[in-house]
Amino acid sequence: MIPVGLTMVQEPPQPWQDRLYILHKGLGPLVLLVVLTRLGWRAFHPAPPLPLSVSRPQQFAAGTVHAALYTALVVMGVSGYVFVDAGDFPTEALRALGVPPFIAKNEPLSKAAQSVHVTCAFVLIALVVMHVGAAAFHGLVKRDGVVSRMWPPLARGGSRP
Ligand code: HEM
Ligand code: HEM
Repeated sequence: MIPVGLTMVQEPPQPWQDRLYILHKGLGPLVLLVVLTRLGWRAFHPAPPLPLSVSRPQQFAAGTVHAALYTALVVMGVSGYVFVDAGDFPTEALRALGVPPFIAKNEPLSKAAQSVHVTCAFVLIALVVMHVGAAAFHGLVKRDGVVSRMWPPLARGGSRP
C-alpha cells in the first residue's frame, strides 16, 4: 500500500498510474478489514511473554510502536475510504462486488480525510522504519528469537524464551 500510494501520486501524472489508483483503492478496504479482524482476534489471544533479553523499557517501546502501527493502519484505511467516498470518486473493486457508496458527496469532509491520509502516511512510514529497524536489531545483532515469534516454524532450536 505504501509504495503503490507514493508512486501513484507522482507528478506529472502518467496513464499507468490509473491502474495503481484502482489497485490501491481496491486493496485498501481489504487491508482495513484484515487489520480490524486481527485486532478482534488479538483482544482475546494475547502474545506470549517476551524473552528476558528484552528489557522493560524495550518492551514498553515495542508495545507503544505496535499500538501506534495498528492505530495508523486503521486511520489510513478509514481516511482513505472517507476521502474517496465523500469525494464521489469511484472505488471500482467495491462497486464490482456490489458494495454501494456509504457516504453522500461532501467536499470539505473529503478534503479533511485526504489531509489525514497524506499526513498519517508519513507517520506510518516512520513507525515502519523504527519497527523494521528494531526487528533487524533483534534478528541480526541480538539473535534472541524475537523475529521468529512472527513465524514460529522458522525458529531454530534454543530460540524459545
Ligand atoms: C493501510 C491502508 C492504506 C495505506 C498504508 C495507504 C497509503 C497511502 C500512501 C502512502 C499514499 C500517498 C500519500 C501521498 O504522499 O500523497 C496514499 C494515497 C492515497 N490513498 Fe491510500 N492507503 C491506505 C488505504 C487507502 C484506502 C482504503 C483508500 C480508498 C479506498 C485509499 C485511497 C488513496 C487515495 C485516493 C490516495 C491519493 C491521495 C491524493 O491524491 O492526495 N487509501 N495512500
Ligand atoms: C521486514 C518487515 C517486518 C518484520 C521483520 C517485522 C517483525 C515483527 C516482529 C518480530 C513482531 C513481534 C514482536 C513480538 O513478538 O512481540 C512484529 C509485530 C508487529 N508488527 Fe511487524 N515486522 C515487519 C513489518 C511490519 C509492517 C510493515 C507492519 C505494519 C505496517 C508491522 C506491524 C506489526 C504490528 C502491528 C505488530 C504487533 C503484533 C501484535 O502483537 O499484535 N510489521 N513484527
